[in-house]
Amino acid sequence: MNLTIFKPTFRDLVVGVNTKVPLKNGKKVTAINFDNAASTPPFAAVLDEIRNFSPWYSSIHRGTGYKSQICSDFYDHSRQIVADFLQADLNESSVIYVKNATEGINKLSYRLLEDLKGGIVLSTFMEHHSNDLPWRNKYQVDYVRVDEQGRLLLDDLEQKLRKYKGKVKLVTVTGASNVTGNTNPVHKIAALAHKYGAQILVDGAQLIPHAPFAMKPSSKMEHIDFLVFSAHKMYAPFGIGVLIGPKKVFSQGVPEFVGGGTIKMVSHDYINWADAPERDEAGTPNVLGVLALTTAIQTLQELNMERIYRYEESLVRYALGELRKIPDIKIYGNDLNTQNRVSIISFNLKGIDHRTLANILSLEAGISVRNGCFCAQPYVQQLLKVSPKEIKKHVENPSLPHPGMVRLSFGLYNTYSEIDTLIQILNKVTNNKTYYLNKYLENSIATP
Ligand code: ALA
Repeated sequence: MNLTIFKPTFRDLVVGVNTKVPLKNGKKVTAINFDNAASTPPFAAVLDEIRNFSPWYSSIHRGTGYKSQICSDFYDHSRQIVADFLQADLNESSVIYVKNATEGINKLSYRLLEDLKGGIVLSTFMEHHSNDLPWRNKYQVDYVRVDEQGRLLLDDLEQKLRKYKGKVKLVTVTGASNVTGNTNPVHKIAALAHKYGAQILVDGAQLIPHAPFAMKPSSKMEHIDFLVFSAHKMYAPFGIGVLIGPKKVFSQGVPEFVGGGTIKMVSHDYINWADAPERDEAGTPNVLGVLALTTAIQTLQELNMERIYRYEESLVRYALGELRKIPDIKIYGNDLNTQNRVSIISFNLKGIDHRTLANILSLEAGISVRNGCFCAQPYVQQLLKVSPKEIKKHVENPSLPHPGMVRLSFGLYNTYSEIDTLIQILNKVTNNKTYYLNKYLENSIATP
């Protein structure tokens, strides 16, 4: 007797893996999505839960009806699910729902105005714009340097912490780069930051969906003070993200957005603000977004984050091995090592503009990638060695096409055979550059 036990693969859990997309020649092929660092497709379980819960959908914290109670209870309990996923203690930390990591960082940049007054924020040269710009307009900011491969220089971090003699109040660093995939030893950085009297914010947008993570108790030097991440990069695209940080920070001061839900008591001349986290969640909460997030978290936990990390690492190892065989390829960051990185690889093919190549991949093989600077222009400029003179030219003429790269970013549902398809088309392009250049010169997509 043939007893076949149905064992779902990662692929079966994700919606859209069999969608057909048209090629330039009019044929249709199964889409290959190597753009998961931008947004992942939803888990089927997320869509199922949204549908199952919808008959119970109602207002949160604003109604006495049965459905409102159900929704409010779910919403309140959801913070525990998030905290458990991050190994955070809700007695110490507040889980605040935001739209995405960018909104979380912006919110924090306003909420720390008092705490960081007169202090320095230490960011890094490998951040995307969202972990750079919100700090620039409010604080004195300095940047920790990176090496040739785009890896953070911990010596420079410590040297700067020492140089500023306790004036650095916050170190804000990405957990994993959205350009090179390089991960940072965030707990080691946290211990260093704390040693010099600073707090740490980890931008977890590219890390949390791909690797296990622990905030750790505040009694430990290596604990993480603040973390942000987005659900749309972890299979739950319903407009929700998380900012988590010490309860005491969010139990004081006035949030940047105020209104319904943020107060205990208000009269014309008096305001008593709500406790954390409600104080920072103005307006009707996005309960379906939170449901999507918690369902994604539960799915990821069932799959096991360590297992996901190892599978994605094997995809990167395979892809790097094959990419390196292609003549004229330039891989940015570390092209050998799969340690200390998430499933992101950025590259260029000599003689082919990144816009043209991204188009070719889409229209010849149905492969989606992102190209350009990935909202991380300063980091990409460094990796590409764009000279200050060249940058000045772009500043003076913003319509000049940006230098850039092509980025592959794998999700847990991507496969080796999809990578084979990529390698095949890259080899074809390399061997027939003139043909493809002529065919695609006119239509190119730029993403800054
Ligand atoms: N979401 C941006 C990306 O695609 C930052 O990397």
